[in-house]
Amino acid sequence: MSKKIQAIRGMNDLLPDQSPLWQYFEGQVRTLMSRYGYDEIRTPIVEQTALFKRSIGEVTDIVEKEMYTFEDRNGDSLTLRPEGTASCVRAALEHGLLHNQTQRLWYQGPMFRHERPQKGRYRQFHQIGVESFGLEGPDIDAEMILLSARLWQQLGLSEHVTLELNSLGSAEARAAYRDTLVDYFESHYELLDEDSRRRLTSNPLRILDSKNPDMAPMLADAPRMIDHLDAESRDHFARLTAMLDAAGIGYVVNLRLVRGLDYYSRTVFEWTTTALGSQGTVCAGGRYDGLVEQLGGKPVPAVGFAMGIERLILLLDTLELVPDEARGELDVYLLPMGEATEPAALLLAERLREALPTLRLQLHCGGGSFKSRIKKADRSGARLALLLGEDELAENAVTLKFLREDREQRRLDQDALAETLTSLLAGETLA
Ligand code: HAM
Repeated sequence: MSKKIQAIRGMNDLLPDQSPLWQYFEGQVRTLMSRYGYDEIRTPIVEQTALFKRSIGEVTDIVEKEMYTFEDRNGDSLTLRPEGTASCVRAALEHGLLHNQTQRLWYQGPMFRHERPQKGRYRQFHQIGVESFGLEGPDIDAEMILLSARLWQQLGLSEHVTLELNSLGSAEARAAYRDTLVDYFESHYELLDEDSRRRLTSNPLRILDSKNPDMAPMLADAPRMIDHLDAESRDHFARLTAMLDAAGIGYVVNLRLVRGLDYYSRTVFEWTTTALGSQGTVCAGGRYDGLVEQLGGKPVPAVGFAMGIERLILLLDTLELVPDEARGELDVYLLPMGEATEPAALLLAERLREALPTLRLQLHCGGGSFKSRIKKADRSGARLALLLGEDELAENAVTLKFLREDREQRRLDQDALAETLTSLLAGETLA
């Protein structure tokens, strides 16, 4: 036998037993987006490398060491998208979606980052992202947060996630703060670890993110962005928090929250959970008022966020919050009990599907002995089996067998079958 080829490390197959939960989650999101008036956008998975370098930032972890970049056959440098915001801006600019109009968009799909795989962190992962363009005030920031909070509520996750919030100020205020911070770190150079020394010139704000306990006391005394905010950003942040207070959304102001992508200004936020170990950020985003201009457009204010689908699915599983409808179980397994009734069973299955559009019915195909047919019915996970033998066929009937309950089997009239199944599946007992 030749050696089997395996999937790439950190890139997962989504197997049939998991897909109903994904579909449930995606369905919840799709409905929510339309309820808030957001339109879906789909962009290619591959973009020119320059797009991500210019938007995410040359000295971020993503661009420095995590991108899947390759030359295509023309010699162009292409990259598998590590996130969706840059592509969204590129597409909106390219198609004139930002000319004197506002946009509220959402997208979903795979993203690629060459990170060290672990629970909740993969090299191909999936995001649902939301972006708005042309809206400057904190009302849209608040709406985005409320939208995500409503999703947690629908999924039963509200008590298991915490909202962390910060403001990074305007680009100018951040540049001034950066200088203050560099001065501070330089005066404590001996306390910086190697990583932080490297970041001192490239990305000093990220030093604040360091998890190194030896640096914690020095970081605690570092100058705080919040004290260096420009007046407009301070006002924006105050109005945002007032709106969240009024809406009853709890949050923690985390002055260390800086995010790992360079395009943010003003509001940044993350929803985190403690139930997933170290990869606890399930949703994150913020305002990026400078990005459209940076990518060649006129200045357009923008804000957005993205959530990691794998992490949210893991969370639902871990907390046992998977509702029955997300288990994808069959209602009915219909079995012809021999070759002679196979054509009639096929037609009966279609008749039932016609009459009951939400019924989940699987037809037994492939023959087999009586015993193996019954075994398959049981393994199908269906609640009910319908047996169609030659006797039943002659009487225009079927035999109903309860697969999950200890109840007597019984004959049912085919003409009343749709009605009977509806009552049974609604949990009613039969007369
Ligand atoms: P991000 O923080 O890089 O932001 O990613 C957003 C979310 O994607 C994370 O909070 C996490 O749930 C998930 N995620 C990221 N990396 C991985 C991974 N390797 N494995 C599994 N899940 C992961 C962005 O991507 C921004 N584009 C968000 C945004 C939209 N900001 C404004 N608009």
